[in-house]
Amino acid sequence: MDFQLIFLSVPLIFIAYKLFNRLRFKLPPGPRPLPVFGNLYDIKPVLVRCFTEWSQQYGPIFSVYLGSHLNVVVNNAALAKEVLKDNDQQLANRNRTKTIEKFSKNGMDLIWSDYGPHYVKVRKLCTLELFSAKRLDALRPIREDEVTSMVESIFKDCSAPENKGKALMLREYLGMMAFLHITRLTFGKRFMNNEGIIDGQGQELKGILNDAIKLGTKKSLAEYLPWFRFLFKAENEALAEHDSRADHFTKKIMEEHTIARKKTGDTKNHFVDALLTLQKQYDLSQDTIIGLLWDMISAGMDTTTITVEWAMAELVRNPRVQKKIQEELDQVVGTERLMTESDISNLPYLQCVIKECFRMHPPTPLMLPHKANANVKIGGYDIPKGATVSVNVWALARDPAVWKDPLEFRPERFFEMDVDMKGTDYRLLPFGSGRRICPGAQLAINLVTSMVGHMLHNFTWTPPAGVRVEDIDMMEQPGTVTYMKTPLEAVPTPRLAAHLFRRVAVGNV
Ligand code: HEM
Repeated sequence: MDFQLIFLSVPLIFIAYKLFNRLRFKLPPGPRPLPVFGNLYDIKPVLVRCFTEWSQQYGPIFSVYLGSHLNVVVNNAALAKEVLKDNDQQLANRNRTKTIEKFSKNGMDLIWSDYGPHYVKVRKLCTLELFSAKRLDALRPIREDEVTSMVESIFKDCSAPENKGKALMLREYLGMMAFLHITRLTFGKRFMNNEGIIDGQGQELKGILNDAIKLGTKKSLAEYLPWFRFLFKAENEALAEHDSRADHFTKKIMEEHTIARKKTGDTKNHFVDALLTLQKQYDLSQDTIIGLLWDMISAGMDTTTITVEWAMAELVRNPRVQKKIQEELDQVVGTERLMTESDISNLPYLQCVIKECFRMHPPTPLMLPHKANANVKIGGYDIPKGATVSVNVWALARDPAVWKDPLEFRPERFFEMDVDMKGTDYRLLPFGSGRRICPGAQLAINLVTSMVGHMLHNFTWTPPAGVRVEDIDMMEQPGTVTYMKTPLEAVPTPRLAAHLFRRVAVGNV
C-alpha cells in the first residue's frame, strides 16, 4: 500500500512542480503541450521549417516542449542579439542528452561543455593555438591537396568514355573530400592511399563515424522521456561499445604520433601533435584531448559537405551566377593555372556567392542549442534556468523585414549592403555569435570558398539530361544539420586543359 502511494505521488509531485513553474514564469507563448510528451506529437520532421511556421503563428519568440523540457526559439535579429550578446554568459551552457553525455565524456570536450573554468580554458586553447591564423596558414597545403584531389577524381570520372554527359552525384565527392581533410587535420594522417583506396585504419574510422551517425540520429523517446530510459538497455550498451571503440582508435593514433615525435624531434601542425605538446601547459586530461579531437570531426565534416552541395545546387539553378563567377576567375586567375586560397581576396564576387549560400542554407539552421544557467528575460518573457534556447538563424537570414526578396538567390545583394557573417551582424549568423561562436569559422570559409572556386574554375555544371532547373528538389532532410533531401546530381563539363586536373599532393604538415 505504502509502495503504491509512493509510486503514484512521485510523478504527481513532478507534474505539480512543472505546473507551478509554468505559472510562476511569464513564458513565451507556443503550441499547447501534452503532459509528458509536450509538443513531440505535432513537430514536423524538418524542424527549422516547422519552427519558422510557428514563429508566424505565435510570434518571433515561442516555447516548445520536447517531452517535458522547455525549449525557447527566437526568430529575429533583435532577439538573437538579446540571446547572444546581452545575455550571452547566462545562456552559454549546453543541454546534454544521454547519448551526448556519452559522446562528450560528460561535457569534458568543448562543444558540449557547460560554460565554466573548463570551457574557458579549452576555448582559449582553440582560439590561441588550434585555430590561430598561423596554424590555419600552415595547414593550408592539406586543404589544397584535398580540394585538387577531389577535382582530379571528378575529372577522371566525367572523362571516362562510358560517362560522357552523365550526371554525377556530387555528395560522394564532397563527402570524401571533407572526410579526408578533417581527419587529416585532426588525426594527422591521410587514410587513403595513392590508388584511392581507404586503408584499414581509415575503414575502422569510417565504421566508428557510421555508428556515431546511427546512434546520434536514432532519437529514441528515451532522449525526451527520461522516465522510460530503463526500456532502452540495448541502446545504452551500443553507446558504451561505440565509446570504447572510438577511445581505442584515438589512443592508438596518439601513441603513433608520440613515437614519431620522439624519433624525429619534429612537431607537426595537425591537432593531435598540437594537443599532445600543449597537454601540460593547458592541463588537459586524456579524455579532454580525445573529446576535442572528435569534436572537430563531428563539427567540421558534414557542415562543409552540406554547404558546398547547397551552393552547387544554387549554381546549377542559376547559370547567370555561374557564368559571372567563371568570368571573375578567368580574369583574376586565368586559365593557365589552378586557383589557390591566396586568390580569394581578389575574388569579391565569389565571396558574395559564398555569403549568399550561407544566408540561404546555413548547415546548422538552429545553431547548437544553448542552455540557461540562470533565470533571464528575453523579449520581455522569462527564460527559466535549465531551459534550452535556440536561435533560428535560417529564419533571421530569410526575414522579409530585413532582406529584399529573401527567397531569391542573388549574391549581388552583398555589394549593396555590408553584412558580416562572422558573428557581428545579427541578420546573418551561420556560425553563431558571442562566446560560443564557431571557432572553425575562418577555416570553414576558406575551405568552402576554395571548393566552390575550384569546382567553377575547372568545370561548368548543368542539370542531368531531361531535368529542368526548377525541378531540382530544394527541400531539406530532417536532422540537426540540414543536408539536401535529394542528393544533387549534375553534369560537369571540363573547361581547363587536362594537365591542370592534377592533385597537388603534400606530405604530413
Ligand atoms: C560550414 C561550416 C561550419 C558552420 C556553418 C559551423 C557552424 C557552427 C555553429 C552554428 C556552431 C554553434 C555556435 C553556438 O552554439 O552558438 C558551431 C560550433 C562549433 N564549431 Fe562550427 N561550423 C562549421 C565548421 C566548423 C569546422 C570546420 C570546425 C572545426 C574544424 C568547427 C568547429 C566547431 C566547434 C568546436 C564548435 C563548438 C564551439 C563551442 O561550443 O564553444 N566548425 N559551428
